[in-house]
Amino acid sequence: MRILVAGGAGYIGSHTCVALLEAGHTVIVADNLCNSKAETLDKVKQITDKDVTFYKVDVTDEAAVDSIFATHQIDGVIHFAGLKAVGESVEKPLAYYYNNLVSTIVLSKACLKYGVRKFVFSSSATVYGENEVPFVETMDLLPTTNPYGETKAISERMLTDAAKSKSEFSVSLLRYFNPVGAHESGLIGEAPTGIPNNLMPYVTQVAKGKLGKLRVFGNDYPTIDGTGVRDYIHVMDLAEGHVVALDKLTSGVHIYNLGTGQGTSVLQLVQAFGEANGIEVPYEIVDRRPGDIAECYADASKAKRELGWTAERDLLDMCRDAWRFEKGYV
Ligand code: NAD
Ligand code: WQD
Repeated sequence: MRILVAGGAGYIGSHTCVALLEAGHTVIVADNLCNSKAETLDKVKQITDKDVTFYKVDVTDEAAVDSIFATHQIDGVIHFAGLKAVGESVEKPLAYYYNNLVSTIVLSKACLKYGVRKFVFSSSATVYGENEVPFVETMDLLPTTNPYGETKAISERMLTDAAKSKSEFSVSLLRYFNPVGAHESGLIGEAPTGIPNNLMPYVTQVAKGKLGKLRVFGNDYPTIDGTGVRDYIHVMDLAEGHVVALDKLTSGVHIYNLGTGQGTSVLQLVQAFGEANGIEVPYEIVDRRPGDIAECYADASKAKRELGWTAERDLLDMCRDAWRFEKGYV
C-alpha cells in the first residue's frame, strides 16, 4: 500500500516508517519538522535501504495536503502529526487545540475527498483519565487533566463520526501507553529538545552525564514501591502494531490499546536500566508531579485477539536500545 505518514520524521513516526518499508509498503512523509529533523528520514533510508518521499508541509494547511493527495494515489494515512508536551499544552492550550484538531480534520477530509479508506490515529492512554487499571477499550473516557489529552479524546470522536458518515472510511484509534526505546541499529530514537519531560530520556541523559540526578516524582503512591507505575512499550513493537492495524483495517472504527499489559514502577525501570547497561543511575525522591496518576497500564488482550499483535520486546530490550541510541547521539 501507499501510505501517507503525517509526522513521519518524529519519534514514533520514523520507527513506523521503518516497519512499513520493511513490510513492503511505499511511504510518503508529511512533516513540518517542528519537533524533528529531516536527517532522521535519511537514517530511515539507511536502515531499510529503501526510499521515502518527503514533503516539508504543515498538515493543518489544507491546500498543501490536498496537493499531496492529488499527486499520490494514497491507500492509507497514519496521523502522528501532533504536539505532545502535556505541560506546554496547559500553557498554550489554543496552539494545541489548533494543531492537533485541525490536522485531524484536514487529513480526514482529504481522505473522504480522495476516497482513501484507511486512517490510523495516534491516540493515547491519557484518554482513560482516572479509570481503574488495567484500562480496557470499552471503558467510558474520563476527562483528562490537560488540553493535550482533550485533543486526543476530541480527535477520537471526530474520526468516529466521520467514519459513521461514510461507510467506506475506516478508522483505527490506537491508544499508546508509554513508548520508549529506539531502533536496534541505534540510528533513530527519541531525541527531545531541552530537558526531557519523560522518564526514559531523562534516565539516559543522566546515564550520559548530561543531567545530574533523576528526580523521582513521589514515593507515596499506592503502588508496589510507592513510585508511579506505567506500561512501557518498545517503540519498534508499537511501530509494528501500526502496520498490523493498517493491514487488518477493513470497515468501521476500531480502538486498540497498544501496551504490554505489564506495569513497571519508576524504581523498577531504574533498576532494569542498571541491569541492562551496567550503569547505576543516581536518583533522589522529590514531590509528586502535579497531574500524575499512580498507575497506568493496559489490558492488551483486544489487540492480541483481533490483530494477532503483542509486544515482543521486554524492559531490558527497551533500556538497552534507549541507551544505545543516547550513547551515539550528539
Ligand atoms: P514527535 O513530536 O516526535 O512526532 C510528531 C511529529 O509530527 C514531529 O516530527 C513534528 O514535527 C510533526 N508535526 C507536529 N505537528 C505537525 C503539523 N501540524 N504538520 C506537520 N507535522 C507536524 O512525537 P511522537 O512521540 O512521535 O508522537 C507521535 C504521536 O503520538 C503524537 O500525536 C503524540 O501525541 C502521540 N502519542 C505519543 C506518545 C509518546 O509518549 N511519545 C504517547 C501517546 C501518544
Ligand atoms: C512516567 C513515570 C512520572 C520523569 C506522558 C504523558 C502521556 C503520554 C506519555 C502522550 C511517572 C515518573 C518521570 C521524571 C519521574 N504522552 N517520572 N521523573 O507521565 O506516564 O505520560 O507521556 O500521549 O500523555 O502524560 O510519562 O515518562 O513523563 O512519566 O519520576 O523525571 O515516571 O512521575 O510516574 P507519563 P513520563
